[in-house]
Amino acid sequence: MAGKQKSIYVCSECGGQFPKWSGKCPLCGEWNTIAEEPTVVRQSAATSARRQAVVTMDAIDTQAETRYLTGIGELDRVLGGGIVPGGLMLIGGDPGIGKSTLLLQICGKLSENFKILYVSGEESPRQIKLRAERLAVGGESLLLLCETDMDAVLDAIRENKPDMVIVDSIQTVSLSEVASSPGSVTQVRECASALMREAKQNDIPIFIVGHVNKDGAIAGPKVMEHIVDCVLYFEGDPHSNYRMLRCAKNRYGSTNEVGVFEMQGRGLVEVENPSLMLLSGRPKNVSGTCVACVMEGTRPLLAEVQGLVSPTGFGNPRRMSTGFDGNRLALLLAVLEKRAGYFFSNLDTYLNVIGGLRLDEPAADLPVALALISSLKDTPMDEGVVAFGEIGLAGELRSVSGAEQRIAEAARLGFTKIIVPEQTKRTLHGTYPIEIVGAKTVREAYENL
Ligand code: TYD
Ligand code: MG
Repeated sequence: MAGKQKSIYVCSECGGQFPKWSGKCPLCGEWNTIAEEPTVVRQSAATSARRQAVVTMDAIDTQAETRYLTGIGELDRVLGGGIVPGGLMLIGGDPGIGKSTLLLQICGKLSENFKILYVSGEESPRQIKLRAERLAVGGESLLLLCETDMDAVLDAIRENKPDMVIVDSIQTVSLSEVASSPGSVTQVRECASALMREAKQNDIPIFIVGHVNKDGAIAGPKVMEHIVDCVLYFEGDPHSNYRMLRCAKNRYGSTNEVGVFEMQGRGLVEVENPSLMLLSGRPKNVSGTCVACVMEGTRPLLAEVQGLVSPTGFGNPRRMSTGFDGNRLALLLAVLEKRAGYFFSNLDTYLNVIGGLRLDEPAADLPVALALISSLKDTPMDEGVVAFGEIGLAGELRSVSGAEQRIAEAARLGFTKIIVPEQTKRTLHGTYPIEIVGAKTVREAYENL
């Protein structure tokens, strides 16, 4: 692109590019996010990279594809079975959630067999060393570089030829040929692409840490998500020690796995039995709670749903829900009124899912409805009961997938009775160490409790 160098205007929230400045981004509607950035002068891709030959599909060897296991089972599962050589993985999350800790812990096991380069633009070598000592991570093959200049980082990769690279964080590094400041959309995109080329050319996996903006998205999200192979989000309630690792994009595996960790004095510890954790501290003999069995990826999870119904003080009744879609709650309340004869119209309704979990699956409908009815009637449900099933607009219960795994999980944790849609019950043939109750409608489910 020859000619006069011009500026473009880029939104730091959505990455949208405009020829003119404006106070409000026309794409995402955010105020004061548009900043001027010089256009980058780049060599055209054809001259900068060697041209690749065309090959037939059969000629590509996939036998050699081995994955590196990090030794952290929860992480390996979220990644789809370990780290793929040549993969570029982005880990996003709020400050202080434990991204640097997790990445340093990955180094622990892998550095026994592989050479790892840990690049930090945020902390000093001493700070990292102190943390590494706490996590009992170290050794000859763990190399450390505290640098914010991307060219120096790329040189270090070429010189030391590590088997894996970690860049903490992408917002602190910058390429000198790009005029805009570190953390701007252009810098982030150019640095991520430079790392991508390095990963693919040398077949080394690279992890990058990305900060999230105030909406919880990774800064410059649209531009980065296209570039990287895998996007992981590390989330958790700041008031609790539990952390969830979710996958938002994965070119090498499924995106619906979650990994659960607990932050302890000596780093992150895997939680192999999250259901037990989610159910701890359950109140006894209280109305308005029901245990749901939902699937997170391939794993069944039991979670407590709490409902509270109380008379409306003024005019319109309030409907509030945490961890469950508000529109779905409104729909379920309408079905309960019209089809099952439970009236909520002059009552405030609150719903809460314990443990910061989000129940997005239709299978959570039945436990939500049961928790609400239990609160409405003010009668506690039997403690040993678990429920799952989708509720249709006619008030009927519809079957959901993964019934066997859900039942097995409920039985494993010592529950005595599980309420399932009648259709689901008919498909079951084995014998289970738990009483299975089939119900055709919500009303029937509640009456069979
Ligand atoms: P950190 O990994 O620095 O977060 P991020 O890189 O995502 O900003 O995590 C810092 C927090 O974790 C800090 O509040 C202290 C806590 N922590 C522990 O509780 N135990 C530990 O062993 C370590 C290393 C950190
Ligand atoms: Mg950090």
